[in-house]
Amino acid sequence: MKKAGVLTLSDKGSAGERLDKSGPLIEDMLKDLGISVEITEIIPDDLDLIQKRLIAWCDEMDLDLIVTTGGTGLSPRDVTPDATLPIIDKRVPGMEEVMRMVSLQKTPHAMISRAIVGVRKHTLIVNLPGSPKAVKECLESIAPALPHALDKLGGDMSECAPSS
Ligand code: MTE
Repeated sequence: MKKAGVLTLSDKGSAGERLDKSGPLIEDMLKDLGISVEITEIIPDDLDLIQKRLIAWCDEMDLDLIVTTGGTGLSPRDVTPDATLPIIDKRVPGMEEVMRMVSLQKTPHAMISRAIVGVRKHTLIVNLPGSPKAVKECLESIAPALPHALDKLGGDMSECAPSS
């Protein structure tokens, strides 16, 4: 079973001033995809802190997937993509694009999310926006390819479409 971590970025959530609904929603959606959520945490929108968590979870916990929520927009404290970009080895542009494409059908505000999807070593990192509505819409848009992406990342060398 693939293993995931869910990291919520929220100054208010980490201070106990706002209930985190997005983290638990991601957990539920991942479980429905057959992915086991091993760790969850809410931390402030602090670039260094976010990077330390992402690096530790990738390098020490051997997770297949990390999903972050929050901090992808344009507010001064929105730094999740800026924390993610320098610590990944490669981006997965198609997943970023499909989230933005599907989201734009729902709201024009989707164009201001700077969410990154990328790979560090053997871990896929997916940034999602902060609202539960955005989480659902974005995660649903990449869900059809997520299990296959994690299989490939885990070293599955089998043919994707074997000839009959
Ligand atoms: N994407 C989807 N699918 N649905 C949404 O409602 N909200 C947008 C956008 N992406 C939204 C969305 C809004 S209002 C903002 S400000 C940006 O995501 C950034 O959100 P964040 O700063 O909480 O990450």
